[in-house]
Amino acid sequence: MEYTNADLFESLMLGRVDKSDIENILVSIFQSSYDGIYVADKHGVGIMVNVAYSRITGVKSEELLGKNMTTVVKEGIVSESVTVKVLEKKTPQTIIQAVRGKELLVTGNPVFDLNGEIVCVVTNVRDISDLNHLKNELYQSKKMTEIYMNEIEEFRKRELIQMHLDGIVAQSQEIMKVFHLARKVAKVDSGVLILGESGVGKEVIVNYMHQESDRAAKPLIKVNCAAIPNHLLESELFGYEKGAFTGANSQGKPGLFELANGGTIFLDEIGDMPIDLQVKLLRVLQEFEIMRVGGTKSIKIDVRVISATNMNLEEMVDKKDFRRDLYYRLNIVPIKVPPLRERKVDIVPLAFYFLNKTNKKNHLNKRFHSEILQFFEEYRWPGNIRELENLIERLAVTTDQDEISIKDLPPYLLKSKESKKSDSGRLKETLANVERKIIKEQMEVSKTTRRAAQALGISQSALVKKMQKLGLSM
Ligand SMILES: Nc1ncnc2c1ncn2[C@@H]1O[C@H](COP(=O)(O)OP(=O)(O)O)[C@@H](O)[C@H]1O
Ligand SMILES: [Mg+2]
Repeated sequence: MEYTNADLFESLMLGRVDKSDIENILVSIFQSSYDGIYVADKHGVGIMVNVAYSRITGVKSEELLGKNMTTVVKEGIVSESVTVKVLEKKTPQTIIQAVRGKELLVTGNPVFDLNGEIVCVVTNVRDISDLNHLKNELYQSKKMTEIYMNEIEEFRKRELIQMHLDGIVAQSQEIMKVFHLARKVAKVDSGVLILGESGVGKEVIVNYMHQESDRAAKPLIKVNCAAIPNHLLESELFGYEKGAFTGANSQGKPGLFELANGGTIFLDEIGDMPIDLQVKLLRVLQEFEIMRVGGTKSIKIDVRVISATNMNLEEMVDKKDFRRDLYYRLNIVPIKVPPLRERKVDIVPLAFYFLNKTNKKNHLNKRFHSEILQFFEEYRWPGNIRELENLIERLAVTTDQDEISIKDLPPYLLKSKESKKSDSGRLKETLANVERKIIKEQMEVSKTTRRAAQALGISQSALVKKMQKLGLSM
């Protein structure tokens, strides 16, 4: 449907504006538009330019009015003309132009008469530098959101672990990773072998895995393979029938595997398992049945086996001290627990955790001097968390003052501190000797402190001070 201009005015103004005012109103709108507007006639000659156009493009109205756009482009006033494009294509055109460091979005629209001929071309110019700026900001804030989301996720994971675990301190990324993996594999029955030095918390991880598994309501049986004499280990693990050997309970006795039925069995110090028993254990893991010592029928069992060691099992396998097939069976998922000295971030939180625990247990009110915390962070902890825990309990119950300080450390630890001190003392002495030698030699060549200082690249006063300190004569 075609409208006459009068119709358009009617519909636009809803009859509220006097027709005689319309011209004024249109001019005001034209001039107060935030976007630049430029109008060219059907030949491409500029007939109207608003102030915003000049503000945005920096091109004055005199440079455009009465001039053909092709000329304006030729003169280099603008790099490209959307008007020319519109006149060629007879459709709306949009280009992005860079003018004086600004990015402009330029849209030209043809205006047709009732015969479909172009009457004029109206061009809108919008500064999109701000828009791009906003776009960048948006991009950056999206990135930040991503970072924060990740942090929240990390935090959530941490919370989850802490929520499920009373009495576990997990601060470092290293130990967090360990607990993550532990939780992941807690739900399945694959063999898990926990590796790590004594006292790093292997048993703590086993407890956690059992709690997190579907077997949590069933028993968790712990066996220290190194603590049970070899000749008793088999009957301990698998039980015995009555009359199996002299001195045996006349009723027979179920083994630890039977007691763990439905739950988890933890074979600690698995490296100490005698080789003949390793074969029997492998069979249990493959068949999920056991035979009591002196028994004739096998008993079905359903247990999850977690083992741990601080030995190098791989090396033992190479030396044939440990069965390769059993090693693979136990080690489907290895969990390596780093020693405390490799996750120093955990030390102070653990220290406070153990101090609080001891304080509560013994109705004490002990606190740490900051120096001793620093010592804790630097010490190597060969006994790992167990050593830290024992030390703190010992310090808390033996010191007289409420504040626990360096001087309260037991002698063996003080010694380790002193040996460190003497190391740094040695360094200082060595450096002084080197300085003494260099200065002496330079003084022999240069004769005066002024020239020697110059040769050494320091000020004369600095050299004199140094020589006094080093006990050198001038
Ligand atoms: N993450 C931890 N938070 C608090 N206490 C811990 C942690 N890990 C270990 N412990 C404590 O340290 C001691 C040694 O841990 P344990 O699991 O027996 O070590 P491992 O079995 O590796 O020798 C235990 O008293 C245990 O409660
Ligand atoms: Mg242990």
